[in-house]
Amino acid sequence: MAVIWGIVGLLVGLVISVQLLWPAFNFDLPWLTYGRLRPLHTNAIIFAFGGCALFGTSYYIVQRTCQTRLFASGLASFTFWGWQLVILLAALSLIMGFTTGKEYAELEWPIDLLIAVVWVSYAVVFFGTLAIRRTPHIYVANWFYGAMIIAIAVLHIFNSVEIPVTFFKSYSAYAGVHDAMVQWWYGHNAVGFFLTAGFLGMMYYFVPKQAGRPIYSYRLSIVHFWALIFIYMWAGPHHLLYTALPDWAQTLGMLFSVILLAPSWGGMINGIMTLSGAWHRLREDPILKFLIVALSFYGMSTFEGPALSIKTINALSHYTDWTIGHVHSGALGWVGFITMGSLYYLIPRLYGRTEMWSVKLVNIHFWIATIGIVLYVAALWIAGVMQGLMWRAVHEDGTLVYTFVEGVKASYPFYVIRLVGGLLYFLGMLLMFYNMLKTIGQGKSVDAAVPTATAPAHA
Ligand code: HEM
Ligand code: HEM
Repeated sequence: MAVIWGIVGLLVGLVISVQLLWPAFNFDLPWLTYGRLRPLHTNAIIFAFGGCALFGTSYYIVQRTCQTRLFASGLASFTFWGWQLVILLAALSLIMGFTTGKEYAELEWPIDLLIAVVWVSYAVVFFGTLAIRRTPHIYVANWFYGAMIIAIAVLHIFNSVEIPVTFFKSYSAYAGVHDAMVQWWYGHNAVGFFLTAGFLGMMYYFVPKQAGRPIYSYRLSIVHFWALIFIYMWAGPHHLLYTALPDWAQTLGMLFSVILLAPSWGGMINGIMTLSGAWHRLREDPILKFLIVALSFYGMSTFEGPALSIKTINALSHYTDWTIGHVHSGALGWVGFITMGSLYYLIPRLYGRTEMWSVKLVNIHFWIATIGIVLYVAALWIAGVMQGLMWRAVHEDGTLVYTFVEGVKASYPFYVIRLVGGLLYFLGMLLMFYNMLKTIGQGKSVDAAVPTATAPAHA
């Protein structure tokens, strides 16, 4: 389902990219308008694509590293079906125009309640499995997944406290600047825990597995874990620089964001150095290419993020496409690639095979998607800096040099390049889907080969 939702999410991303070039592409249909499709894109790609990948890989990894079967497998099935229901309800309600207006938390209160139930069930399955493990220690990948599960539960529940007015409409329990602060404490930590910690869990399992080497430094991974989860929690105010938020809170957010560079790069170095002594494998192994390039983009976006949180830089970047470029270097490069690499490892193994149906297609996917990311991100960096500079340019008498529309017109060529980059990335995902179907078609479910609940698992 991660692959299928990935295709849906990217497709909606492409449609809104086209709309930014040709606004008439909504055909005057309310459910096709930018305002409805944009949150559909973010929800589908983060929570449907990313969410399914996190559920799937965490259930696989926790069983392998704890050498035991899932705790409460019925409940695990419920988390799968429950999550698919959340996704369907989300898609329908967003297209119909229902929204709380809080970014990444747009869903109305009945869906929020369902999310809370599914998520708590996920916690029971995951931590229950850790509790019945047959290994003395808990491998670090599980620490990251565990932190993600706890943090997202807390964030979701507190940010979604709202007063229902009708079945389809609610108002936040917080008001004004408090609402903004809670929202971006949530928003930033959704990046920190959903889009980062969970995917670091993937990294800590699949990079050593695919490289056939132990993680570079287990000690560093523990320092990485504690530093990352402690520091992320305080960085949210960097989304509210130059707003009504008290100045000290903005500065605190900026400081913690700059410090965040250290644990982020510690994690990146730990992943990349796991390959030391096996660098030659990068030449012929496309799965390793996905994983290592993902780590490179993780490094780049976690260098860029702290820079963007510095007030003087944010004064230029905020509201421009630079932010969108930053988002997608993390999203396409880090989240997308680490997931694709992990799924290419996982899919054949779930169907009793050692490799995907076509390794050549995996290679082609890697190259076109990489070119796609570079086009996407580079175009928006240039567009973003240009927009920022045009907006702040003033004549000696204080009047603006450019009208807003001139800035929009100057952005057009870059929007075309973004669209081409997005198309290449999307094409890669279609290849992945085809390769997956072929692999599943030729393989045999591992469940069929391991019929009993007590069959030994291989770590
Ligand atoms: C050290 C790590 C990071 C820091 C300090 C950081 C910092 C920032 C800053 C300062 C902004 C711009 C806020 C604004 O002007 O509105 C931003 C936006 C954003 N970043 Fe990062 N970033 C980091 C890593 C990442 C990663 C790895 C991802 C994705 C996987 C990511 C996803 C986002 C998203 C989605 C937004 C847009 C939020 C919105 O909707 O306004 N960030 N980040
Ligand atoms: C084919 C690939 C993609 C295309 C063409 C695309 C396109 C877009 C567009 C046009 C926007 C709106 C930008 C704006 O309002 O100016 C957007 C926003 C966003 N996209 Fe994508 N996207 C793609 C892939 C992804 C992926 C894989 C992820 C996450 C894993 C992602 C996460 C986001 C987020 C979080 C935002 C909101 C950013 C913000 O508010 O600052 N996108 N995307």
